[in-house]
Amino acid sequence: MRRIALSVAASTMTLSLAGCGVLNATGDGASASPTKGDDITVGLLLPEKANTRYDKFDYPIIKAKVAQLTKNKGKVEYANADASPSRQAEQLRNMIDAKVDVILLDAVDAHGIAQGVKKAKDAGIPVIAYDRLAEGPIDAYISFDNELVGEVQGRSLLEALGPGAGTSDKIVMINGSPTDPNARQFKEGALSELNGKVTIAESYDTTKWKPEIAEANMAKAIAEIGKNDIAGVYSANDGMAGGVIKALKAAGVTQLPPVTGQDAELDAVQRVVSGEQYMSVYKSYPTEAEAAAQMAVAKLQGKDIQFDALTQDRVDSPTVKNVPSRLLQVSALTRHTIKDTVVADGIYSIDEICTAKYRAACTAIGLK
Ligand code: GAL
Repeated sequence: MRRIALSVAASTMTLSLAGCGVLNATGDGASASPTKGDDITVGLLLPEKANTRYDKFDYPIIKAKVAQLTKNKGKVEYANADASPSRQAEQLRNMIDAKVDVILLDAVDAHGIAQGVKKAKDAGIPVIAYDRLAEGPIDAYISFDNELVGEVQGRSLLEALGPGAGTSDKIVMINGSPTDPNARQFKEGALSELNGKVTIAESYDTTKWKPEIAEANMAKAIAEIGKNDIAGVYSANDGMAGGVIKALKAAGVTQLPPVTGQDAELDAVQRVVSGEQYMSVYKSYPTEAEAAAQMAVAKLQGKDIQFDALTQDRVDSPTVKNVPSRLLQVSALTRHTIKDTVVADGIYSIDEICTAKYRAACTAIGLK
């Protein structure tokens, strides 16, 4: 599944040439890319609101980058499906009817949306899969290396358990939504680290990534395993980690086991500060969102060389082989790396993280 051939130096060079206006604005003709000017409309379909990244980072960053790349003439039409596959299918239909020029699609149900992707393609609208690999005839895909996300989570959990960890240690796995292909990759990446080293005592997939479902499943796991026998919890994202921690506390666990997460949500970063959550995974939303905007604009403006430079990786979806892609790196966010990740990238200021409630804990870990 994972085939990455990144040539960072080469692609950076091509990009900077493009930035200097050296490249021709029209494509090479042979691939017949549609060529438009700056007056373009990008349709942006994002999957949910429970996780704050979509409204808070992805949408505004994509909007600003499209404006910047089009001398403020390009627009972004944004729709959020609030975790409903049928709502997203309808939003996609509306965008096709409104004849947007290109669609950035972060699928709620990557398989179920394939028909809609085909309709867009038939209407001459290119579709770029954003963050999650939608099925159907997509033109490109931009995401993080999602197996790496799982590996980073798995490795961190082992690190938290320490050198004495062994197969008698019972781990609970709280995985993401079964309709999100990333969730499967997170799980596979984590299992590649955990298998054979600890025991996966209970494992759940979580409909719509809902924290309250994660909380209920965690309560079941506690009942099965016993509240003092859980060595660690693999939670695929931060929202669910919040639910897991609530369930552990409700069961009367005072010494919380290490719990993983993902997305560097503000409340999760605060839990990492206070020690309630062991780690999160920091994914640079600006890098992903800006690359998506660049791909969309390059595709429409027929800047094929620039588009190719932006999509040097190749990925297979269940329906399309060799999708031109870009897979970005991720890093572990622990109490030791908060400053070098979310703070350094300007995602949150220290003041936002270290509110009155967390001030003492922040000082204790040198975050000031
Ligand atoms: C994934 C995405 C994560 C997180 C999760 C829950 O597909 O890559 O960043 O948002 O969905 O919504």
